[in-house]
Amino acid sequence: MKTIDELVEEGVAGQRVFVRADLNVPLDGDSITDDGRIRAAVPTITKLAEAGAKVIVASHLGRPKGAPDPQFSLAPVAKRLGELLGKDVAFATDTVGDSAKATVASLGDGGVTLLENLRFNAGETAKDDAERGAFADELAALADAYVGDGFGAVHRKHASVYDLPARLPHAAGGLIATEVEVLKKLTEDVQRPYAVVLGGAKVSDKLAVIEHLLEKADRILIGGGMAYTFLKAQGHEVGGSLLQEDQIPAVQGYLKRARERGVEFVLPVDVLAATEFPDLKTKAPAHPTAIPADAIPADLQGLDIGPETHKLYAAKLADAATVFWNGPMGVFEHPDYAEGTKAVAQALLDSPAFTVVGGGDSAAAVRILGFDENAFGHISTGGGASLEYLEGKTLPGLAALED
Ligand code: 3PG
Repeated sequence: MKTIDELVEEGVAGQRVFVRADLNVPLDGDSITDDGRIRAAVPTITKLAEAGAKVIVASHLGRPKGAPDPQFSLAPVAKRLGELLGKDVAFATDTVGDSAKATVASLGDGGVTLLENLRFNAGETAKDDAERGAFADELAALADAYVGDGFGAVHRKHASVYDLPARLPHAAGGLIATEVEVLKKLTEDVQRPYAVVLGGAKVSDKLAVIEHLLEKADRILIGGGMAYTFLKAQGHEVGGSLLQEDQIPAVQGYLKRARERGVEFVLPVDVLAATEFPDLKTKAPAHPTAIPADAIPADLQGLDIGPETHKLYAAKLADAATVFWNGPMGVFEHPDYAEGTKAVAQALLDSPAFTVVGGGDSAAAVRILGFDENAFGHISTGGGASLEYLEGKTLPGLAALED
């Protein structure tokens, strides 16, 4: 994989360099609620601009349906990127149309433009190779070289991630290089004990990674909505909690295999429960009660791990040498259910282990809940991407940069 430093050394002054970043940030209307991914994109863009390249930044945002949709516009991101770079970012209101062509043509050396959301074009995510390829051809016409730096999207076989690098001289950006270096520490030569904390709503999203971790990890701690399917699989009543009934046989299989392999599965011993899901808009007090996790009454639903579980999980992380964490422990967006996620974040900070927070919601939670992100070993910008890397899958966006 060619590095960005090698590309810069070869000379990029006056060249149009296309940077595929992942600027898919959470928005509340026009406001960016966590700009972590934009900040993570800055070093590569700065390096290229300082070397005199004309930098064309592109990304997706959300999941529009292949046509322009104002709620998924990257315009607020262009503004924030400009603030972080300390220079104007010319925003193109399309991806390969007149605006993009004119904006790129008017870029001076060291100038930066951000194209509109790549997914406003159906070719970006098309399953059909020819349709994706045709869009990649149009993108390629805008640039002289390609830098892949959108780690959060490398698991997507999309035109700008997979097909475009085949059409231009290409290199891996600094963010991708760092992410891969860190994730290697979790797959090759792992320091033990290796503990993994998995949360989030659905077991079905985590099946493949659990399967893989049963061969790698020493301890797996479960929280979030998916914990209730594990509790039910152990024969406990979960009341009105989130449950994926169809996943129970798979979960029972994992619990059995874990016992056979000596992998410790740790489940919540208590939960915060209430009769209703909290109002995330008004954040009105939810008045939850802490109850044992092994007998949740029919009229209650578990919405966070409880205080006894905080202590248990902290103890299970205290002597680990490596920790990977993906997924919140509860409905952390509501203050009454943020304590479980905070407790896990704090336990990671207190542990002497090398700690990796795996992207998406858990990375946003760490920052939104006010933790110092620099205190963690690494906070990945990729949720799905980091999980698929740990599953041992070939990631299209990395494979495309190899050759
Ligand atoms: C993410 O948020 O995980 C990445 O930006 C990829 O987004 P996607 O799941 O919509 O492809």
